[in-house]
Amino acid sequence: MQAITAHNQISKIVSQAKAQGKTVGFVPTMGALHKGHASLIDYALKDCALIVVSIFVNPTQFNNATDLEKYPRTIEKDLAFLSHYGSKVTVYNPSPEEIYGDNVSSKGYDFGHLETVMEGEHRPGHFDGVGTVLNILFRQVNPHKAYFGEKDFQQLTIVRKLVDIENLDLEIIGCPIHRQENGLAMSSRNARLTAHQLDIAPFIYESLLYVKDNFDTHSARELKAYIESIYKEKDGLELEYFEIVNIKNLRTLSRKRKNQQYRAFLAVYAGEVRLIDNIALN
Ligand code: PAJ
Repeated sequence: MQAITAHNQISKIVSQAKAQGKTVGFVPTMGALHKGHASLIDYALKDCALIVVSIFVNPTQFNNATDLEKYPRTIEKDLAFLSHYGSKVTVYNPSPEEIYGDNVSSKGYDFGHLETVMEGEHRPGHFDGVGTVLNILFRQVNPHKAYFGEKDFQQLTIVRKLVDIENLDLEIIGCPIHRQENGLAMSSRNARLTAHQLDIAPFIYESLLYVKDNFDTHSARELKAYIESIYKEKDGLELEYFEIVNIKNLRTLSRKRKNQQYRAFLAVYAGEVRLIDNIALN
C-alpha cells in the first residue's frame, strides 16, 4: 500500500490508473479509522480497482478549537489498518499546506436551507469547511466515485449539492451506518468515551428505534416531545437536538405525505463528547 503526501503525486497515480481503464473510488476521512470507515472501503471495492483513502483532519470544519485539538490522530495505526487492503488502496495524507497553501479558510458556500438546520445550526461554518476541503480534495484526486456514510446524512446531502454547485463529474455514493453489536454507531469520537459512557451510549440508537417503531402511529410532534422527555431523565446523556425531516430537503416534518421519505436525527453530548446518529423511518 502506498501512502502519498503530495497532491501532484496523487493526481498522477489516479490519472495513470484511469488511463489503464481502472475505476477509481475515493473515501475521504479524518483518520482514527474504524469499521465504519472500513465499510465504505468495502463498498468501494465492489466497483473500483483503485481506492484512494484520504486522511486529513480539516481545520476549517471545526467551529470549536478544543474539538479540533482533541480530535484523535492515530496515523500509524491508521496506516497499519489500511495496509490489509494491499495495493488496491492508496492513502493520501496531505499536510494543511498541501490542501490550503497559505490560506486556511473556507470558500463561503451557500448550501441554502440544508446548512441552516441540525448540524449546520449547531456548528456554524461547519459545512462551509466540509464543502471547501472536499472541493479541493475532489479536484486533486479526481475519482470516478466518492463514498460517504449515512452516519453523516446531512453531510451526504450537502456533498451532493456541492457536486452540483461545482459542476463536478463525480458520482456520490451513500453507504449505510455501521454499528457496534449494541447499536452504537461507530465513530472516531467513541475513542474519547469513558467505560461508563460507552455503557450508556447504546441508549442513543434505542431511542431512534423507538421513533422508527412508533412512526406510523404517532405524530412527529408527539415523538419529539417523548424523545426530549426521556433524555431529560437520562443521566450522562444530554440531548442537543432531535428532528424528523424529509430526506430530500431536510425540512422538518409537520404533516406526513405519501411517497415521501423521512429520517430522525439527533445530537447528544456524553460529557464533552458530541455524538450524532440518525435512522430511516419509512
Ligand atoms: P470522518 O468523520 O472521518 O468520516 C469519514 C467518512 O466515514 C464519512 O463519509 C462518514 O459518514 C463515514 N462514517 C463514519 N462513521 C461511519 C459509520 N459508523 N458507518 C458508516 N459510515 C461512517 O466525515 C468526515 O470524516 C469529514 O467531514 C470529511 C468528509 C472527511 C471532510 O473532512
